[in-house]
Amino acid sequence: MIVILDFGSQYTHLISRRIRNLGVYTEVLPFNVSSEKVSELNPSGVILSGGPQSVYSDESLRPDLQLFRIPIPILGICYGSQLIAHIFGGRVRKADVGEYGRTKLRVLKKNKILSGIPSKEFFVWMSHGDVIDSLPEDFEVLAHTDFSPNAVFKFRNIWGVQFHPEVYHTQFGDRIIENFVFGICRAKRDWNIESYLESKLKELSEIKEGVLCAVSGGTDSTVLAVLLSRIKNMNVKYFLIDTGLLRKNDVEKIRKNFNSLGIQIDVFDASSNFLSQLKGVEDPEEKRKIVGRVFAEVFGSIINSYKGMKYLAQGTLYPDVIESGVSVSGKADVIKTHHNVGGMPSDINFKIIEPFRYLYKDEVREIGKILNIPEEIMNRHPFPGPGLSVRIIGEVTEEKLRILREAEEIFEEELMKAGLYYKVWQAFCVLTNSKSVGVVGDRRRYGWVLALRVVESVDAMTADWAHLNYTFLDTVARKIVASVPQISRVVYDITSKPPATIEWE
Ligand code: XMP
Repeated sequence: MIVILDFGSQYTHLISRRIRNLGVYTEVLPFNVSSEKVSELNPSGVILSGGPQSVYSDESLRPDLQLFRIPIPILGICYGSQLIAHIFGGRVRKADVGEYGRTKLRVLKKNKILSGIPSKEFFVWMSHGDVIDSLPEDFEVLAHTDFSPNAVFKFRNIWGVQFHPEVYHTQFGDRIIENFVFGICRAKRDWNIESYLESKLKELSEIKEGVLCAVSGGTDSTVLAVLLSRIKNMNVKYFLIDTGLLRKNDVEKIRKNFNSLGIQIDVFDASSNFLSQLKGVEDPEEKRKIVGRVFAEVFGSIINSYKGMKYLAQGTLYPDVIESGVSVSGKADVIKTHHNVGGMPSDINFKIIEPFRYLYKDEVREIGKILNIPEEIMNRHPFPGPGLSVRIIGEVTEEKLRILREAEEIFEEELMKAGLYYKVWQAFCVLTNSKSVGVVGDRRRYGWVLALRVVESVDAMTADWAHLNYTFLDTVARKIVASVPQISRVVYDITSKPPATIEWE
């Protein structure tokens, strides 16, 4: 395996995924993990991630220095490379000109980390405001850019790159990661999802007591439920919490899908609970927190109502933590409070099973395929835990929920008819908090402005708005305004992520 030490970069998990995709297992650990712990894991190499800090500041994050005594290759990326230069006595300072985005790298001499790249100049993705001004003694500079004289360097088996080889926009980024993982670390390509699944099934089949499994209709909990249902003689109870924030007919659709997979689910209607707590609340973070809190309360009382159950299965994924700003190092910035992490009671008397704890979403999808879960279930668009509450701007009311559900239903139907639904990452409606004047059959209509949001993405970390054709958008807008009298106007969101996020709240 390759160990990645997390210094708080938004890209830490991207490094990890790139390496997993090459067939090598990875683990992301906090930046200050002890060198003994790293040695115990016996990795083929260690990567120090990027991070938002300056290595020369008093609060800068430092690794255990004994790490550099372990006889395995180390690669520093961005902050990680500056850290190496700083620790060994080089000079890092605030750059006169920071480098952000596409930057030309010039290779100075042949070397292992940049081997197999056909040109001496190529474009890399940079994101740094500090620069390595001078390298420590005996360090060798291998490549530079206009403003980074030491953009790639080496010292014994320690390597540093100022740019981000893990991001899609760095040319030959995969090649550079392969060079480190295979050429330098000599790691073996022996990680595959089939053997992981086999070992998990074996491990889970040893559980003899009752297991509770909450489902949401989303990919992760569906794959988890099907996985558990395939274990002979396991006593599992599946349940769904109806938050009242789901889309039209969602509960019935989910129930039907599970029935078709041979799974019976219990549905608990907690909608009045959620709606009464959300009454009068307008702030997005406040709404998310309330949904998370009520979910935890309802969840706690439901699981305690099942008698004789000892385990609770959860579909937690490896990056769930970083998206919520509780990355292993606790240093990433909180953009939104995520429901799936915040929404669990903390004082439960259950043992937790998290078979996907170390997996990424695409790996869970692969498990879904192996388990023969139909594509139309696996490929449903992601739906946020707080549901429609984050798609109604301002206060959530029953009336607004009804309006949004009607519009959503029409939109989804049209996307399906046009063969677009499965081509885009996510498509949904947002009921804005604005009203506008319209004219319908010579009458004035003063109704809500509805926004359509459709995005293309591979991992939801970045996304582009989908360039759907005007005829299709025209059909959708006409149908919605004709069928939902409370909506007077339809607009299309043309903002990518970043700077926007996918959901509006
Ligand atoms: P944002 O809006 O942060 O969304 O760009 C990224 C992806 O995450 C989904 N999302 C959530 N999923 N619980 C979830 O399980 C949540 O609280 C939540 N908030 C956003 C969103 O739909 C998109 O796919």
